[in-house]
Amino acid sequence: MNTDVRAAAARVVAAVLGGTSLNRVLPGKLKEVSERDRALLQQLSYGTLRQGPRLDAILKQLLDKPLRDKDRDIRGLLLCGLYQLDSTRVPDHAAVAATVDATRALKKHWAKGMTNAVLRRYLREREQLTEALDQAAAACHPTWLFQTILKQWPTAAAGIIDANNQQPPMTLRVNLNQVSRGDYLAGLEGLGIAAKASSLSNHAIQLATPIDVWDLPGFSSGTVSVQDEAAQMAALLLQAQAGERVLDACAAPGGKACHILELQPQLGELVAMDIDTLRLQKVSDNLTRLGLTATLMTGDAIEPPASLAAASFDRILVDAPCSASGVIRRHPDVKLLRRESDIALLADQQLRILQGLWPLLKSGGSLRYATCSIIDEENSQVLQRFLTAQSDAVPSSLEMPGSGTVTVGHQLLPSAGGTDGLFYATLKKAK
Ligand SMILES: C[S@@+](CC[C@H](N)C(=O)[O-])C[C@H]1O[C@@H](n2cnc3c(N)ncnc32)[C@H](O)[C@@H]1O
Repeated sequence: MNTDVRAAAARVVAAVLGGTSLNRVLPGKLKEVSERDRALLQQLSYGTLRQGPRLDAILKQLLDKPLRDKDRDIRGLLLCGLYQLDSTRVPDHAAVAATVDATRALKKHWAKGMTNAVLRRYLREREQLTEALDQAAAACHPTWLFQTILKQWPTAAAGIIDANNQQPPMTLRVNLNQVSRGDYLAGLEGLGIAAKASSLSNHAIQLATPIDVWDLPGFSSGTVSVQDEAAQMAALLLQAQAGERVLDACAAPGGKACHILELQPQLGELVAMDIDTLRLQKVSDNLTRLGLTATLMTGDAIEPPASLAAASFDRILVDAPCSASGVIRRHPDVKLLRRESDIALLADQQLRILQGLWPLLKSGGSLRYATCSIIDEENSQVLQRFLTAQSDAVPSSLEMPGSGTVTVGHQLLPSAGGTDGLFYATLKKAK
């Protein structure tokens, strides 16, 4: 039986409020609703989470007392209800009625009257309730993140915050072994799919409107992959040469690993490692679709498997686990999941990963460090801590299109209609 779409969205939001990532919860819920409700479930989930901190601050004003943890689904439902009243074309009375109705599907009959009262009061008092919000909530960000962005990026903050609140563009990576970017663009045009070449990566195409990947010509045979332009820079900056042995130490789901192989078909070996065996399966799926080969390995970069010999890699890519503060527009659940206290823990983990991998690099070899974070503690500061203790590590410059040559590290900032916010740096091992 198909689940009520608003009840499903409420459960998605509730799961995120409870600490589960959107990527983990949404796919299962999409299967529970009818096919015609899937787009709406997606919109309600992403939209509500994107505005989560703002909607939650409004909801707090509307509730006499906080809801109990066991009623997180009702909190999720009320947040989805507020989102619909503000940001969808569903007429107010229909949005209220459908949201109230979803209490039945959630088997929370007691919440029917309260849901109705809360949403109706919002319609009556929207202006005052919105005016009472602090700056961070009004900007749909948790306070700690809002303040961090303002402090670290004073002149770019408004653009970053705006980008974090937008739907991201769908960007493709063209496999130049199969087709030129110009020819692929012409093919899209012929099919009436509006798209343009992107400027940062010369492999990238941005679609005017997101579409189902299976509707992309050549997707199943590996002609294109979906990958943000900023992420495409990892393989482009790595510049792996023919015959080299390369380690992608945090490889899953494999976007960058596949791009490395596409760019250098004569590579000696690519070892794609990840700590998460389940996620490693996605690397395998991607390699299969693209007809590429790599050595897959479950392993912890902090204490690499003994089978990886010391000084055996020419290049290492460390796409480190991070706060994802640079890809919030793609992962709006980050706004509700991340805590300020996570940042120091992540920075320590990133440092230990660098320290664990460094012995695997040949002398004269190079390591590219990347994160999808815009928070300095996870980026330059990790490198500085690493360099202080590692005398044979030398920061090296990298060629970043549009920014010229940059030393130690370069931050791409998220921008509306532009790229994700990724950080890149290069370290060379002294000979
Ligand atoms: C940012 S994602 C990598 C994305 C990937 N490079 C791509 O382009 O598709 C970070 C990955 O690091 C993995 N990871 C986290 N801690 C790790 C560790 N100690 N050793 C190896 N992998 C780790 C996570 O499982 C996750 O898949």
